[in-house]
Amino acid sequence: MIIAQISDTHIALDTPDADRRIRDFALTVADINALDPAPDAIVHTGDIVHNGRRDEYAQAVATLAQARAPVHVLAGNKDDRANLRAAFSSCGYLSSDSEFVDYAIDDYPVRLIALDTLSSDGNKGDFCAERVRRLIDLIDTEPAKPIAVFTHHPPFEVMVGPERLHFETPEVMSRLRQALQHSGRVIAVFSGHVHRAAAGHVGSIPATVMTSISTTLRKGDYPARMKMRPVYHLHRFDPVWGFTTETRIVGTAPSAAWTSDSNAA
Ligand SMILES: [Fe+2]
Repeated sequence: MIIAQISDTHIALDTPDADRRIRDFALTVADINALDPAPDAIVHTGDIVHNGRRDEYAQAVATLAQARAPVHVLAGNKDDRANLRAAFSSCGYLSSDSEFVDYAIDDYPVRLIALDTLSSDGNKGDFCAERVRRLIDLIDTEPAKPIAVFTHHPPFEVMVGPERLHFETPEVMSRLRQALQHSGRVIAVFSGHVHRAAAGHVGSIPATVMTSISTTLRKGDYPARMKMRPVYHLHRFDPVWGFTTETRIVGTAPSAAWTSDSNAA
């Protein structure tokens, strides 16, 4: 099983770099479409758009509609839950029993669980008692398969960059960490938000953070020849070895799947 993870596309329509963000997103989808073997699923770990606006989601939906693999999306702190739901409701996987954008996908050898780590108070992550209960329920629904969990905010201290803690308090992050270890069947945690690549652990669970697809918002130093090239992650699952993660660099050559015409949505 292969999962392509993308994150932090921050689609905006009226910033000076709006065209570049749309271009980065479209080139990434085109690159994923060209993979052989093709991924089984694409997961977007949030900050799909920059201002939570419906017209931004319309652009993002148009870009993701080009993807050949099934796409699953999470909400990031820049997303608007209601507008995200409206934009992606026809996909059929978003839960409808709660305001939280959390759900499980059971179509693969590994269950995919998407979490909602949004806070109503700011850009950092939150995970309330109700979301803990919902996560435990999602984990317990199916008792056999290994599980990969996707979050926007990484539930471990990221030791690169100026900020180590991406949740509001260590206690909140600890609550999520304990819930993730509830069954022993969560074998990987994949996150975004930080706009830098990093790896760590959630207890004994391996965890990675991918950088932003938006090259203008990417943090860290990249050589000049990579400035215009988005970077994403491919997670390959093996029943014995678990996940291995490849960092994939999108090519700079113009792609037939992206032209300035497809920019208008
Ligand atoms: Fe972001």
